[in-house]
Amino acid sequence: MKPPPSSLNSAPFFLLLLHLAVSSVAPTTETPSSSSSSSTLDPKQIEALASLNIPTARDPCIQPSPHKATVCDRSEPFRHLVSLHLFNCSADLSLSFTALKSLSSLHSLSFTNCHTSPIRFPSDLALSLTYFSCILSFRRLTGVWLSRFVNLTDLTVSFTPVNTTGLYVILGNMHKLKTLTISHANLTSSLPRHLRQNLTHVDLSDNKLKGNIPPSITLLEDLEYLNLSSNGLHGVIPTQFGDLISLENLSLASNSFSGSIPDSISAITGLVHVDLSNNQFNGTVPRFFSELKGLKVLKLENNELHGVLPFNASFMKKLDVFKVGGNSNLCYNHSVISSKLKLGIAPCDSDSSDYDEGDNADDTGEKKDQHHGPNKVVLGVAIGLSSIVFLIVFLILLSKWCG
Ligand SMILES: *[C@@H]1O[C@H](CO)[C@@H](O)[C@H](O)[C@H]1NC(C)=O
Ligand SMILES: *[C@@H]1O[C@H](CO)[C@@H](O)[C@H](O)[C@H]1NC(C)=O
Ligand SMILES: *[C@@H]1O[C@H](CO)[C@@H](O)[C@H](O)[C@H]1NC(C)=O
Ligand SMILES: *[C@@H]1O[C@H](CO)[C@@H](O)[C@H](O)[C@H]1NC(C)=O
Ligand SMILES: *[C@@H]1O[C@H](CO)[C@@H](O)[C@H](O)[C@H]1NC(C)=O
Ligand SMILES: *[C@@H]1O[C@H](CO)[C@@H](O)[C@H](O)[C@H]1NC(C)=O
Ligand SMILES: *[C@@H]1O[C@H](CO)[C@@H](O)[C@H](O)[C@H]1NC(C)=O
Ligand SMILES: *[C@@H]1O[C@H](CO)[C@@H](O)[C@H](O)[C@H]1NC(C)=O
Ligand SMILES: *[C@@H]1O[C@H](CO)[C@@H](O)[C@H](O)[C@H]1NC(C)=O
Ligand SMILES: *[C@@H]1O[C@H](CO)[C@@H](O)[C@H](O)[C@H]1NC(C)=O
Repeated sequence: MKPPPSSLNSAPFFLLLLHLAVSSVAPTTETPSSSSSSSTLDPKQIEALASLNIPTARDPCIQPSPHKATVCDRSEPFRHLVSLHLFNCSADLSLSFTALKSLSSLHSLSFTNCHTSPIRFPSDLALSLTYFSCILSFRRLTGVWLSRFVNLTDLTVSFTPVNTTGLYVILGNMHKLKTLTISHANLTSSLPRHLRQNLTHVDLSDNKLKGNIPPSITLLEDLEYLNLSSNGLHGVIPTQFGDLISLENLSLASNSFSGSIPDSISAITGLVHVDLSNNQFNGTVPRFFSELKGLKVLKLENNELHGVLPFNASFMKKLDVFKVGGNSNLCYNHSVISSKLKLGIAPCDSDSSDYDEGDNADDTGEKKDQHHGPNKVVLGVAIGLSSIVFLIVFLILLSKWCG
């Protein structure tokens, strides 16, 4: 493994932000005496940052503190914050309405590991935000609270419980939303009957979503990423799912989906990552997966798929991850695929002694061969024994002939 080529890759996100912020003001910081461009942060905002326990002894626009990400604009006479990332907040941090009101210049606001109370945001700030992220922060959020950020293009809530009567409460007025992540949030709701057509990224994984996938989802022709894994969803994949022509990564894993995998998916030629595992999909495995040039991950394990696996070994070796174990009526053609691949399914025309079904479908990839090993030992012992018997008979015959 080569180390990452640049330090940016290993630096935490906030360092990257700081780097960008510092480099954008570099001419100013290097020649502070040269001109009027050495403007500093608005004193009201300095006060607000201080109330959030952010050190302000040095100007956060020019020399940001190493622990808080702050990005400023270049306005005169005072600069204003456009981005703020708070993390690992002290337990006694409480947001004040006044402080937030003076931070209405922010477009981007992130909380990571800040267990403070979610007070009502001043509407200037709520309207100004295009990016809001909350990871492991605020003890609990409500849909109504989130719904006020109507100008967001990017919403992330993760590892924070969200209580709402429906996703439509949150999304109803966010007309500009492109990226939506509400994951690990115990969200109990059904999927909205209509989603914004401009969405490119939808991650609602690991919640308690119920109901099925509304057919209107197929209108999201810009959607590149869809992750609905680990919910309580059921029903079939809409027939026109292949209309999602921009889709690259899809996970419907660990729900109760059923029915067959629609043929229309063959139209999504850019698919990279497909995870349909741990559902009740039935029908046959479609051959078209082997024609998707960019496919890297295909997980179909623990379903009710049946028939002959329509792939050859060179296709499966090309993938980074391929799993089909735990489909008890699915088999492989052993004149096309070697049993050495350990797929966790049986060869089609075998007697039951060749059965290669895993006890634990999760480790089908690494599973040790439990049948052929002992058989080889038995065969070896048998050959050894018969050689000895043959030798003894030969010796007896030889001794009789000589005597
Ligand atoms: C925040 O806390 C986490 C976990 O304790 C730690 O790994 C991380 O380095 C901290 N980040 C900063 C900037 O203090
Ligand atoms: C946000 O949306 C409101 C109305 O929904 C609009 O009046 C306002 O100009 C927008 N603000 C920004 C900064 O885009
Ligand atoms: C979701 O609920 C479970 C049990 O009801 C709980 O253990 C878990 O911490 C909750 N998750 C969040 C993000 O609150
Ligand atoms: C969620 O909100 C509803 C209505 O506001 C409330 O009755 C319910 O107790 C809340 N649930 C939790 C787990 O807080
Ligand atoms: C959303 O998409 C439509 C049609 O593709 C486009 O006309 C509109 O400008 C987009 N809206 C935003 C906010 O990007
Ligand atoms: C899809 O997943 C791959 C890794 O499996 C990642 O590199 C790529 O950026 C993802 N694409 C999208 C649109 O999220
Ligand atoms: C979907 O989300 C789950 C849980 O958040 C994650 O483990 C999985 O890697 C995601 N799948 C894809 C295709 O990104
Ligand atoms: C496949 O699942 C669908 C939906 O649950 C069901 O109607 C159908 O009978 C199943 N087909 C087979 C062959 O099991
Ligand atoms: C394996 O399958 C792929 C896709 O169907 C095909 O292009 C390729 O020629 C096959 N390889 C062999 C060795 O049969
Ligand atoms: C297995 O493959 C061979 C050679 O391609 C073919 O003749 C045979 O019909 C296949 N068997 C099954 C069960 O598909």
